[in-house]
Amino acid sequence: MATVEAEFLLSAASPQQFPRGIEPEVALIGRSNVGKSSLINRLTGMSKLAYTSSRPGCTRTINFYRIGGSTPEFRLVDLPGYGFAEGPVEEKNAWKKLIEAYLLGREQLRLLVILLDSRRGWMDADREMRDWLEHQGRPYVIVATKIDKLNQKEYQRGMASIKREMRSGDPVPFSAKDGRGVREIWQTITKKTTKL
Ligand code: GTP
Ligand code: MG
Repeated sequence: MATVEAEFLLSAASPQQFPRGIEPEVALIGRSNVGKSSLINRLTGMSKLAYTSSRPGCTRTINFYRIGGSTPEFRLVDLPGYGFAEGPVEEKNAWKKLIEAYLLGREQLRLLVILLDSRRGWMDADREMRDWLEHQGRPYVIVATKIDKLNQKEYQRGMASIKREMRSGDPVPFSAKDGRGVREIWQTITKKTTKL
């Protein structure tokens, strides 16, 4: 049985604060409230590692977590959520600058995980992010969150509608509540972070 060690490294409000070192990184991106921090907690089995809240826009900085244990060491990176409609313009610009600095310049970034709420599917901000990442040549996977909130029929429909807008592959269905999808996400991450 694999053991996971995880610890909070630091919270960065500007690129100067990004951690040094060449450890591979896997970053989570998606709308506010989609479940990024909850995914980190579920993956590491530490329910209080990343701060979660039902109030959207709770993570405003880029938060870095060191993951070790029996897996090769890497970092999980919790990016602040986009599409926060009520935020003031200056805040949105600050968000954009910080995210761009990370996504454009980060050499050890191996994989982006785009989270979509399985009840809502693709929103314009998600499509923009996907197109931008493709343009930058950044590898990504799609995770559909909160599937515990769907019944069988909604689930089938939700997954099909997400897949319809994917260029290849399937979305990974995930629930931070019951743990479905954890193993598959781990496998995807491990493949990317151990590849030479
Ligand atoms: P920001 O930091 O604001 O960008 O949000 P976030 O994407 O980090 O979302 P967070 O993990 O804080 O979750 C937002 C809310 O959704 C919280 O109330 C969570 O408990 C809830 N939530 C997250 N994932 C799941 C899930 O898989 N199932 C259910 N039922 N609730 C979830
Ligand atoms: Mg968060």
